[in-house]
Amino acid sequence: LNISIIGVPTDYGQTRRGVDMGPSAIRYAGVVERLKAIGHTVEDQGDIRVSQKHEGAVIDKQLLNLEEVVDVSTSLANSVHDALEQKKFPLVFGGDHSIAIGTLAGLGSHYQNLGVIWFDAHADLNTPETTPSGNIHGMPLAVSVGLGHERLVQIRNYAPKVKPENVIIIGARSVDPGERELIREQGIKVYTMHEIDKLGMTTVMEDAINYLKERNVDGLHLSLDLDGLDPLYTPGVGTPVPGGISYRESHLAMEMLQDSGLLTSAEFVEVNPILDEKNKTANVAVALMGSLFGETLV
Ligand code: ARG
Ligand code: MN
Ligand code: MN
Ligand code: MN
Repeated sequence: LNISIIGVPTDYGQTRRGVDMGPSAIRYAGVVERLKAIGHTVEDQGDIRVSQKHEGAVIDKQLLNLEEVVDVSTSLANSVHDALEQKKFPLVFGGDHSIAIGTLAGLGSHYQNLGVIWFDAHADLNTPETTPSGNIHGMPLAVSVGLGHERLVQIRNYAPKVKPENVIIIGARSVDPGERELIREQGIKVYTMHEIDKLGMTTVMEDAINYLKERNVDGLHLSLDLDGLDPLYTPGVGTPVPGGISYRESHLAMEMLQDSGLLTSAEFVEVNPILDEKNKTANVAVALMGSLFGETLV
């Protein structure tokens, strides 16, 4: 592959500082060398410019830092779109999960029938009406299926970025009441920790991949929130939830995605070095990318 790395040093989607240092932490964990060793061509585009907090912007408690998130999302969407035009594989590093709004805005118009795998402890399907926190990192999946504030939904002037029936959430274990309603209403496929425990990750991923193949997706984006794993393995995240996906299960999921041959873009989000232990979480992110991009042992 010809991989184009785009860093997004933002923390505007939530209120714990430090997640804006995620892209550096992932780079220091050796991502470029790791992907090159597999045989890929890797170009690090550096970071998107993230401006200071807007002075005197109106504060909406249901949509914290809206203006800032719109700005970051717009420039990220343009960078992702440019990478695709140049036939490159976009690999995006967050930053908090609000960046998925921009990533998907850059991807969506390029495909007729994009699929999305949302690997996360959360559903990120809140809207300004349902959010318990006002944090936009709890909203990106809703925005991408066309629900939420117009300024976010209409980035690059089209919506939705992905059809709700082309979305699969894997690893959910913290879902808010409004999100549960949306999942039912929109027909979003979810494998919670219950299904992962009961069926095993092999069956879950086989089912997920078959489902996307049956839907004839012409592109597949992986949006991986490091809090999808159990906090034992990825303590450096802002909203940890116990009882998560194991280290081995996560690797298996990445390997099965690689084997599917469907993947066309990916993002790794919510690495917060301030909350981490000796860059453990970024190291796990890079190890997972090794599996995702085809590392083999023998
Ligand atoms: N559901 C909660 C909220 O909306 C938590 C969201 C956490 N999202 C994340 N990307 N870590 O505030
Ligand atoms: Mn285009
Ligand atoms: Mn999460
Ligand atoms: Mn998330």
